[in-house]
Amino acid sequence: MTGSSDSDTKGFERLGHVNFSGQYDTDAVDNAELIERRNKYFAGSFLFFHNPVHLVRGEGVWLYDDQGRKYLDAYNNIPNVGHCHPRVVDAICAQARQLNTHTRYLHENIINLAERIAGTTPQGLDVSLFACSGTEACELSLRLARQVTGNSGIIVMESSYHGNSKLVGEMSTITYAPDARPTWIATVEPPNAYQGPFRDGDGDLSCRYADLVDDAISQLQDSGHGVAAFVCDAIFDSQGTLEAPKDYFKLVYEKVRAAGGLCIADEVQAGFGRTGKYWGFEHYDVVPDILFAGKPMGNGHPTSLVTTRRDIADKWAENDAYFNTFGGNPVSAAAADAMMAVMEDENLVENCAEVGSYLRARLEALADRHTIIGNVRGRGLFQGIELVKDRESREPAPEVAARIPDRMKDEGVLIGLTGRYGNVLKFRFSLVATRENVDTLFAALDKVIRDAPRTMS
Ligand SMILES: Cc1ncc(COP(=O)(O)O)c(C=O)c1O
Repeated sequence: MTGSSDSDTKGFERLGHVNFSGQYDTDAVDNAELIERRNKYFAGSFLFFHNPVHLVRGEGVWLYDDQGRKYLDAYNNIPNVGHCHPRVVDAICAQARQLNTHTRYLHENIINLAERIAGTTPQGLDVSLFACSGTEACELSLRLARQVTGNSGIIVMESSYHGNSKLVGEMSTITYAPDARPTWIATVEPPNAYQGPFRDGDGDLSCRYADLVDDAISQLQDSGHGVAAFVCDAIFDSQGTLEAPKDYFKLVYEKVRAAGGLCIADEVQAGFGRTGKYWGFEHYDVVPDILFAGKPMGNGHPTSLVTTRRDIADKWAENDAYFNTFGGNPVSAAAADAMMAVMEDENLVENCAEVGSYLRARLEALADRHTIIGNVRGRGLFQGIELVKDRESREPAPEVAARIPDRMKDEGVLIGLTGRYGNVLKFRFSLVATRENVDTLFAALDKVIRDAPRTMS
């Protein structure tokens, strides 16, 4: 993370409804003693919600706090097949009981996992490297791209988030001020047909947004960096959950490849089925040169991957090598393999697409009832609604949005907040969610939005 601390925290606040001061009114909150201890021994301690929630147990889509209160997890960004899925838990325990080492010894688990991953990706995209977090996987992807292309420039979206190391933090443009950007970063406006420079009715939006990449390419070529890669999250989580126009990625990929760069799909949010297809890029009929993923991969156990083509991997390996003590260890591999096996055996990508369509329909019905909802968008079980002060002007309503996750928590539903203006409510269910779970979200949201004042200072 770079830049001034003020812009850092503002960016992160927009991303997730957090209180960065670490100051809570300890008389008015539950668990005051726990918060005090945490604040005393944590550096930069911050928590979701003004009255933070103390979770002690999870099962499927449900979370339970220390008082036995039950919450529907509609924020879920990690336990892909539901909290504490017994098959994943058993796989972790059995392997931990038997052996845990690293990838410099032969072990079948990591080979099984690599084979299973290759079975989910487009043909040719079948060679993997393993790490522990999305940040590490992103950084490794850049290392491959820079090594293979001989260039160093990276194109990312405005308001992007890709992780937390120095290098990846600099690609995460939502977390710091624009004037602190290094010259190897070039940004493009995300294809936001609701708030962006080109909107519905402004002609061919795929072309108009893709053409913005030309300037980014020229900027990197003029500064001598050249183009190593274009990196994009296909669900545009930090930009407020967007649906890009149909041919956007096709056109951008052509431009980036013509400039000598590689196309990297950040699948940390969109990957492993959450959007109703196995990988987010599949919605756009493109095949990236490299993909990286993490969060849902181990259903809560820290593990991540980079998957690429054999020719890219071989060219990179001529001059570089990689080892990660924990990445791909037998326990992590067992967790990820079990998570993926559950997805397959329980037909969870199909469930996500089906329940996701229902979620979308319910959110659109909600927009018919509340004019503060300006736009509904997303894919599968990853949807967002954008709150505006006025549908005509589309002026964002971040003050109202900022209060809603707290109020939803009081109704027993956990949701998130995202987007450049901090005015997009984000709903992200695990793949096992049902229509009934969606109805629970709908009822709570309807009540909370109905009671929310139109503006808040
Ligand atoms: C789109 C995206 N990429 C990368 C990351 C970084 O992943 P991690 O926090 O596991 O390092 C995140 C984390 O939120 C993310 O949302």
